Amino acid sequence: MHIVFAASECAPLAKTGGLADVVSALPRALVKLGHKVSVFIPYYRQVAKAVPHPPIIIESVTIPYPSYNRFVRVLDGGVTEGVQMYFVDCPEFFDRESFYSTPSGDYPDNAERFGLLCRAVIEASKILGVPDVFHVHDWQASMLSVLLRSTYYFDPVLRHVPAVLTIHNAGYQGWFPPRTMETLLLPWDMFTFEKLEENDTVNFLKGGIVYSDALTTVSRTYAEEIKTPEFGNGLEGILQQRSGDLFGILNGVDYEEWDPEIDRNIAAHYTADNLAGKKECRRDLLHAFGLKNVREETAVIGVVSRFATQKGFDFIVEIMDKLVQEDIVLVMLGSGEEYYERLLVEMAERYPDKVRVQVKYDNVMAHKVEAGSDMFLMPSRYEPCGLNQIYSLKYGTIPIVRATGGLEDTIDEQPMGAGNGFKFWGYESAALMDAILRALEVFRDKEAWGRMMQRGMAQHFAWDEPAKEYVRVYERTIQNRS
Ligand code: ADP
Ligand code: GLC
Repeated sequence: MHIVFAASECAPLAKTGGLADVVSALPRALVKLGHKVSVFIPYYRQVAKAVPHPPIIIESVTIPYPSYNRFVRVLDGGVTEGVQMYFVDCPEFFDRESFYSTPSGDYPDNAERFGLLCRAVIEASKILGVPDVFHVHDWQASMLSVLLRSTYYFDPVLRHVPAVLTIHNAGYQGWFPPRTMETLLLPWDMFTFEKLEENDTVNFLKGGIVYSDALTTVSRTYAEEIKTPEFGNGLEGILQQRSGDLFGILNGVDYEEWDPEIDRNIAAHYTADNLAGKKECRRDLLHAFGLKNVREETAVIGVVSRFATQKGFDFIVEIMDKLVQEDIVLVMLGSGEEYYERLLVEMAERYPDKVRVQVKYDNVMAHKVEAGSDMFLMPSRYEPCGLNQIYSLKYGTIPIVRATGGLEDTIDEQPMGAGNGFKFWGYESAALMDAILRALEVFRDKEAWGRMMQRGMAQHFAWDEPAKEYVRVYERTIQNRS
């Protein structure tokens, strides 16, 4: 089967979060199962820096606009581990400082930027090879499904090609003003509540949900959660309607990237049988965060995250005064919303011996935090899958999480540390504090803690099985459409 991926991120070239990890690893797993996969992403400035002057494979694709056309190039990103990469090159849209926004807000032309990506992928596929199925990711690629089933409806080569949409995060939907219908040359009769309209906006993700042949999301629990008002963010109604075509498939992990036995980014390698290297990683991490004289009995709690409301930083801020009274140090790596950046920096200034923050995006440091911490904190308000807690397990770093989405599905708390982590329910920060206290209690019992680490390190969330589940979804849509 030939599968074309369309997405706004793919690691390591373009990454702000877990979407990039999935778009990088899932295609490789599909290739291992014998399928052919092509991945299209924008040729962002950051991609151009990493891959300057790739061969041009299509000199000009026409992207029509109301009174003019844009012309984009498609670049050959080469084949890595069997996966063909293509870049959509449109400098006025993608040769920018960042992918989606500046500190003062989203780029105002995001609808055009990602609408163009979708049209370019369709047009390029007609030239490079029409796939058996399109697999689109999040709102940024959702327009592909909408276009296929509307303005491309009568295209004889695309008519029978299904599209599968994966919702990585229903909190980001791509809301744009009504005039977007005209800019993207979409018929006005699609601007209704049953199709693209929501609160007088054009909602890209909603369009993707309405027009894709099948929908997946990245854990079973989140697949249920998004059908409720609390997590559906206004899309719960349409998701309930489509629940027969909605599947929760838990993300896997790319263990070539995230395994302390071979990780290139950490101070020393280690395994479940020989944890000496983890101590070295702990020392290295504390040094990197400028923390001195941290005793072995002190628990090092790590955080790697986008700084966003989703991630539950308000809970952490609320318990900070209590937390610092415990025998812990807290090291946080992240970037994102300025509000949280400032708040967390303030916390670190208030408790310099206990709390450290590095405000940046730094892949090497993310690996160091995973390897060098004793515990990993992820109190997300919602978490479609969450990859960091799964990485933590492999690094013997015990996750403390809120029981939601993929966190609920991957982390199991049992009395006396008999599970693989700690979790709390509800929205009270006191419940987070309690979970941390439970973790600290087990931490003091070195044997129980060691067993817990072993248990997590033995767990394997590889991509093989999820990839097979995706293939079953693809096959189902192909069958239904023919
Ligand atoms: P989300 O996609 O919602 O941000 P995930 O847990 O699925 O959450 O994935 C986050 C990914 O982004 C992980 O690979 C994590 O290591 C990485 N990441 C997040 N913040 C940073 C950062 N500041 N520096 C480096 N990597 C980061
Ligand atoms: C999103 C979600 C995260 C998930 C990732 C990859 O960014 O917030 O929970 O792990 O996508 O699917």
